[in-house]
Amino acid sequence: MTDQELIAPELPEQKDPADSLNESGWYKVANSEDIGSLKAIQIDNFPTQIVVWRGEDASLRGLDLYCKHMGASLACGEVNENSIQCPFHAWRWAGDGKCDQIPYAKKIPVKAVTRSWEVIEDNGAVYVWFDKEQKSADPKGQKFN
Ligand code: FES
Repeated sequence: MTDQELIAPELPEQKDPADSLNESGWYKVANSEDIGSLKAIQIDNFPTQIVVWRGEDASLRGLDLYCKHMGASLACGEVNENSIQCPFHAWRWAGDGKCDQIPYAKKIPVKAVTRSWEVIEDNGAVYVWFDKEQKSADPKGQKFN
């Protein structure tokens, strides 16, 4: 994979979820079997582009797809413990959206935070919570397949 594939010359356009006409609810984005142990996949069938991965603890987590540092696709990164490590400069992002590790840096910038998405599995399907105003997930919310 070339650097050009990993990182765009300008920050890729992360679709604004606020522009979506989707109702609030849980959206099926994949089957559980699509995301094996320590794997990450890109999700495009959602109001914005996201990465979903399975950590060491077997749980799924989701973030905006493009790294907040310089825009590389986190789906090309590696799962490291329960976080996802960017393929370009190895910043590591936790499921809550906070950067939890930068190689060689003594301090993590306060602004190194990205948007996180709540992910669940149910009957072999993977769902991500969507709400236009970023309200917290409703465990009993409607599911869309
Ligand atoms: S682009 Fe992700 S760490 Fe630099």
